[in-house]
Amino acid sequence: MEIKLAKSAGFCFGVKRAVDMVYEQAQKREERLDAGEEQVPDIYTFGPVIHNEEVVKDLKKRGVKVLRTEEELKTLEDGIVIIRSHGVGEHIYETIREKGLEYIDMTCPFVKKIHNIVKRESEAGKYIIIIGDPNHPEVIGIRGWAGKRACVIENEKDAREFCLGNTELDDESDNKICIVSQTTFNYNKFKYLVEILLKTRYDISVLNTICNATKERQTEAEHIANEVDAMIVIGDKHSSNTQKLFEICKKACENTYYIQTLDDLNMNQLKLKSVEAVGITAGASTPNNIIEEVQNNVRLNF
Ligand code: F3S
Repeated sequence: MEIKLAKSAGFCFGVKRAVDMVYEQAQKREERLDAGEEQVPDIYTFGPVIHNEEVVKDLKKRGVKVLRTEEELKTLEDGIVIIRSHGVGEHIYETIREKGLEYIDMTCPFVKKIHNIVKRESEAGKYIIIIGDPNHPEVIGIRGWAGKRACVIENEKDAREFCLGNTELDDESDNKICIVSQTTFNYNKFKYLVEILLKTRYDISVLNTICNATKERQTEAEHIANEVDAMIVIGDKHSSNTQKLFEICKKACENTYYIQTLDDLNMNQLKLKSVEAVGITAGASTPNNIIEEVQNNVRLNF
C-alpha cells in the first residue's frame, strides 16, 4: 500500500510559528515553576491560538489561558500576552502598553503587511475597503488599523450597496479608495467583488493580499486525490478550510473520509474497498502529531 502525504498538510507557516511560540513559553513557565520560582507570570493568548479543540485543551492543561475580549485584557495586572497569527487592531497594542503587560507578537508577517498598508493608506487620506468576513478575527484586526473611514465587504450584496452610494465618500475631493483582502479569502470571489467595485466613480487602488498557503494546500490535495483510491482529510469538524478541502478531494476521489482524529478512521472501510494507494491531507489547524498518528496507523494496518 502506498501512502501519499501532502507536503502542505496541516499548519501553514504563520500558524506554526504562533503555536510553537505558545508551547515554548508554556515550557519555559513550567521550568521556572519546577525550579521553585515564585513570581512566574501567567501566559495568555488573545483568542485561541488555533481553532482546534485538542490543541486548546492541551495548552489549557499547561496553564495557557485564553483571553476572549479586550475587557478581559483590561482586567489583567500582569502576565505575558501572546498575539496569535490573525493579528489584532492597533488599540489592543495600546491597551497592552497602558497596562504595562509583557507581550509577544506572533501576528503572521503576511497579516502584519496588511496592517501596515491599511495604516499608511488611511493616513494618506484613502478610504479602506477590506474584502472578507467581517466577523473573522483577522478582519476585525485589520479594521483596527484602518481608522474611521473603512468598511468590510463580504459578498455581492455588500458590493452593490456600496456602489449605490456611500455618505462617507460623497465629497469629490476625497474619493480615493484602497482595497485589500483577508488572507484566506477565495481569489475568484475577490476578483468578482473588485470588478463590481471598479465600476464606481472612485479612484481605486487594489492590493491582492490573499495568502497562497490555502490555495497551495487545496491544489496539492486535489492533485493527490486524483491519483489515489482513498483520501483521508484530517481536521476539526468546525474548520471551514478543512470542509473545503474535503469537498475538493471528494470531487476528485469518491472514497474520501473526513476525520478529526485517528479514532474516527474506520480501517475496515479502507480494507473492504481493496485500497492500494491512500492520500492524506489536513486542514490548516491540524497539528502534526495527529497527521503522523494517522499516517503511521494506516501504514501498520496494511
Ligand atoms: Fe497562514 Fe499567514 Fe497565510 S497565518 S494562511 S501563512 S497569512
